[in-house]
Amino acid sequence: MEYKVDFLVIGSGIAGLSFALKVAEYGQVAIVTKKGAMETSTNYAQGGIASVFGQYDSFDLHIQDTLKAGDGLCKNNVVEMVVKSGPERIRELMNWGIAFTQDSSGNLELDLGLEGGHSQKRIVHAGDFTGHAIEQVLVDRAREHANIDIFENCTAVDLITCSMRMKRGIVTAAHEDVCCGAYVLDNETNEVHTFQSKITVLATGGAGKVYLYTSNPDIATGDGIAMAYRAGALVANLEFVQFHPTCLYHSEAKNFLISEVVRGEDGVLIDSQGRAFMGDYDPKKDLACRDVAARAIDSELKKSGDDCVFLDITHKDPDFVRERFPNIYQKCLSLGIDMTKEPIPVVPAAHYMCGGVLVDMDGRSDIDRLYAVGETACTGLHGANRLASNSLLEAAVYAHRAAGRVVKDSESVINEVCRDLPPWDPMGTSDSDEAIVVSHNWDEIRRFMWNYVGIVRSNKRLLRARNRIETIQQEIRQYYWDFKITSDLIELRNIAMLAELIIQGAMLRKESRGLHYNIQHLEKDDKLWLKDTILRRPFVG
Ligand code: FAD
Ligand code: SIN
Repeated sequence: MEYKVDFLVIGSGIAGLSFALKVAEYGQVAIVTKKGAMETSTNYAQGGIASVFGQYDSFDLHIQDTLKAGDGLCKNNVVEMVVKSGPERIRELMNWGIAFTQDSSGNLELDLGLEGGHSQKRIVHAGDFTGHAIEQVLVDRAREHANIDIFENCTAVDLITCSMRMKRGIVTAAHEDVCCGAYVLDNETNEVHTFQSKITVLATGGAGKVYLYTSNPDIATGDGIAMAYRAGALVANLEFVQFHPTCLYHSEAKNFLISEVVRGEDGVLIDSQGRAFMGDYDPKKDLACRDVAARAIDSELKKSGDDCVFLDITHKDPDFVRERFPNIYQKCLSLGIDMTKEPIPVVPAAHYMCGGVLVDMDGRSDIDRLYAVGETACTGLHGANRLASNSLLEAAVYAHRAAGRVVKDSESVINEVCRDLPPWDPMGTSDSDEAIVVSHNWDEIRRFMWNYVGIVRSNKRLLRARNRIETIQQEIRQYYWDFKITSDLIELRNIAMLAELIIQGAMLRKESRGLHYNIQHLEKDDKLWLKDTILRRPFVG
């Protein structure tokens, strides 16, 4: 089937939905999303959105905290623009109907939380269900909009680019391509549809599933970054994978996060002997930045041989804890852990991808008419390490800017449509009877990425990982051409691509900076590496 729309949005998290709602006044929007519309990282966000509302806070302090966390690699103009746009975007979310928690003053002031790396309380939140509160309102509004169609259980396979090279009959650079839409697999019928669009937006979220342990939901397989790279777009800084220090450690808890705000409310990390250890690693103790806290836990676990450390907030008033953290309290209690009486077992897990599709201040990639917003994009805001709760902020700000740019360009640029798109080539025609190969490769990639390309890296481990991924990539390529595609195979192909790019970035960056920590290159090297790691698929003429 072939669909023709003005705007194709791939992904239904805060980034995709905000963009869609803004451009829907100007044309027909199709949102394709892999599972149900609500199944996004956005839906699971707990802590909140960082923005300057506090009496003692200022844009300058938020900017300084963001730059410090980013360890030299943030783009100053981007940081300033995003931080200063924050309050307006938060007010817009409130106008759309999101009920952020108010403080107890009775003056309709926002209650503000504190997280690691922030010098002031500035985390706007809705209890500890912030992401769910946002996602629900945005999905409801998108469903009600006459110009928006949501295609659920539909997985984008690849972008369709019309090559200016072919049009002109001469060989020029890959970045002169134009994006004309995407091929999309209907996961229920296994049919591949062609979506032709004037503008295509990647809002596919992160890539936590590349790692064995992650806070991310199953959708986070880096599809947007992999599709953009395959189409020839620039991607950057993929070695900067953020590990959240505190995910719940329990055999029945898949991916459950214990928000950093628990430490912001005086929670203390302790070892199995009850010793608070963060003071050994950072003067800010439990409010050190995430990279420091995650490495500290990793080091403690290696020394002790224990499976987890603990987060203790039992010294706080139980009523306060239950009221401030209803989601976390209930989840822990359902697993037999009463956090008001006993410390919570926690471990670090892959949480956030700081790198992504390289975009400009309006979310434009270097392929014409292809945008990337939200976690899929690399804007320059996070640099080498993201400051807590700056992600939802970035997604809201860039969705707004991208929508503004598209609307501004609409008269001059986007009226012209690509014609005669190449039909989907089904390649392999037989059904695979070896689903086990897919699940085995999935498991192997996630395991060696955790072991060799995790919180602490070394040259030898990276080399080992590169050798493994090369072999697996060959196998996947063969499999991809031989058999009909399935959503599992598409995701495997994408996590393998992400693994390869993360390894490539990590091998190139011969220093330790922000989230990238290599025991053979412990120092920062500002002379050689005060820059992004930019990758582009080698051009095949
Ligand atoms: P997502 O919300 O992840 O949405 C991605 C969408 O793309 C999904 O709809 C998915 O189905 C779709 N998709 C992916 N691939 C395809 C494909 N091939 N075809 C079709 N659809 C596809 N950040 C903060 O700032 N504050 C917080 O408090 C916070 N807490 C967090 C807690 C958890 C547990 C997690 C996992 C993350 C948290 N983050 C937080 C990070 C933040 O939630 C995410 O970075 C942000 O929500 C990403 O939004 P997004 O719109 O870019 O992507
Ligand atoms: C958390 O609540 O700890 C997550 C915040 C974030 O990822 O920014």
